[in-house]
Amino acid sequence: MFSSIKWKFVVVYLLLVLMAMIIVGVFIVERFEAQQLENRKNTLIKQVETLISTSDYLSGDNWLDHREDIQNTLNKWRFSGTEVLYIIYDIDIPRIIASSHIKYDRIVGSNALAYKSLDPSLIYSAYEGEIADGVMMDFNKNAIFQHVAYPVVNEIGQVKGILYMTDDIQDVYKTIDETKTILISATMLALAITVVLGFLIASSITEPIRDVTEKAEKMAKGDFDQFVEVKSDDEIGQLASMFNYLTLKLKDTIQEMDLEKSKLNTIFNYMADGVIAIDVNGHLIHANPVAIKILQLEEIKDELLNNKMPFPMERINLNIIDFNNPDTHEGSKIVEINNSIYQLKYAPFRNEKNNVGGIIIVFQDITEQHKLDNMRKEFVANVSHELKTPITTIKSYTETLMDYKDVDPELSYKFLRVIDNECDRMARIVRDLLQLSNLDYNKTKWKKVECSVKELIEDTILKLEFSIKEKNHKLDVDIEDDLPNIIIDKDGMEQVILNIISNAIKYTPNNGHIVVSAVMQDENIVIKIKDNGIGIPVEDKDRIFERFYRVDKGRSRELGGTGLGLSIAKEIIEALGGKIMLKSEFNVGTEVSIILPVSDAILTAM
Ligand SMILES: Nc1ncnc2c1ncn2[C@@H]1O[C@H](COP(=O)(O)OP(=O)(O)O)[C@@H](O)[C@H]1O
Ligand SMILES: [Mg+2]
Repeated sequence: MFSSIKWKFVVVYLLLVLMAMIIVGVFIVERFEAQQLENRKNTLIKQVETLISTSDYLSGDNWLDHREDIQNTLNKWRFSGTEVLYIIYDIDIPRIIASSHIKYDRIVGSNALAYKSLDPSLIYSAYEGEIADGVMMDFNKNAIFQHVAYPVVNEIGQVKGILYMTDDIQDVYKTIDETKTILISATMLALAITVVLGFLIASSITEPIRDVTEKAEKMAKGDFDQFVEVKSDDEIGQLASMFNYLTLKLKDTIQEMDLEKSKLNTIFNYMADGVIAIDVNGHLIHANPVAIKILQLEEIKDELLNNKMPFPMERINLNIIDFNNPDTHEGSKIVEINNSIYQLKYAPFRNEKNNVGGIIIVFQDITEQHKLDNMRKEFVANVSHELKTPITTIKSYTETLMDYKDVDPELSYKFLRVIDNECDRMARIVRDLLQLSNLDYNKTKWKKVECSVKELIEDTILKLEFSIKEKNHKLDVDIEDDLPNIIIDKDGMEQVILNIISNAIKYTPNNGHIVVSAVMQDENIVIKIKDNGIGIPVEDKDRIFERFYRVDKGRSRELGGTGLGLSIAKEIIEALGGKIMLKSEFNVGTEVSIILPVSDAILTAM
């Protein structure tokens, strides 16, 4: 408590005032005492001089002749405080010849030097012609006296005698004592006021400082809603307003940092790529949800983040990082993790000491891209292959025709038909590829019109009547009577249905059974084409909508297929807002469903 500024302030103040009061007090008392004594002495001298001037017998040379006159004069002083003695030199002895007060009466006539209550040095000095004075204590009376020995001289300057006067100056010391008491009381009062004032002034300084300190402490604990009251515009006030400014700045900065942090956190948590941070000791510091999923860390996540176990680097196949070798801290690598392909990019991060704190690894899922890449390569290979076969056929048949000029016209006609067929085939492939390319680039112009599903299906079947009859298939058409009309691109839709029904015809052995149905289901029209044909093996089912994918290439080609029909159908249906699905069982049959949404307007108009 006493170590606080407040107490230091008060003590220093107190000492200062005490010292000042002591110095001033001593000075005043000294001056006052000297002044009082001087006054009393001068009064005494004045009295002596008055006495001398009024006593003409003193001008006579022989005082002893006037002893009676002298005594008479002195008798007037009998009851005054001032005591007067007449002393003359009588044959080398300073002899008292008259006294004003009774106490000296008995020593009149005797040697003045023999009395303790007189100061001999003053008497000697006076005989030398000086006015001598001094202060003496009378121990008998326990009083203090002012002594003056005044020489009386004749015309030629010889000392004829001495007037020795004493004056009780006890009152002077009493006054001085009173003064001292007053001064001490004043000092006490001043000290008391000093303590109070010092305390108030110190408080006015220390209170704001303590306020600032307390609030700074709260700020250190994270509470930034701290403001101190600015009570003045002095240094303390400036400190307070500076503190408030600092608080505001800090608050702003921390808010900004929080905002940045939360932004980063959001990015970190919602980014499509996985991110992990591993420190130099191989411990996991951070992992975003995507990374946890990719690396399947759900179960060990807590232990990893609590440093209970080192990060299993084998899961990411990244054993090229060596924390002691800075060259291995940055780079990228393509790895396969749990059947997916990831592009890994890694780089070091620094710690507070600017050393390598660890490594951040970003996982970018490139499985799809990888797949697309492979598909693209496969597609190019397929196109080349598909075109190469008819070109080879055409080339060999034309060469034969050219080499053997006299070929039987019937045979050459046969050859020409093959060439024509192969040309048709190439044209079909190119036409289909062009259509797919237009669908890919959204270049296809759709002409949506209102049409009846029933008519659409029946018209398509009409076009296929010949091939159905040829294979002796049984075709059942089952279309709900009150099916609403749809708004759709008629040509596109016809192409899809044609392709799927012709697939059913093609891939069903003779005497098969094909069922085409259309029903309303929820708010969709569902068209189903079902056959009891050869079906599709399970392993091929997922890839059946891929371009050029065919279960049996040779057979499909034989039947005039390009392997692009289903992919075109899928693109068209999806472009028209519908969905296409295929269910199939090998050697049992296949069912293709086309689901078309019906707009509300049409539904109500029906
Ligand atoms: N109804 C079906 N029954 C059995 N297999 C089918 C059927 N429809 C399609 N497929 C298989 O799917 C492949 C792709 O069909 P598609 O794209 O129409 O090509 P394409 O008919 O030119 O062969 C066919 O080659 C065939 O193997
Ligand atoms: Mg087909």
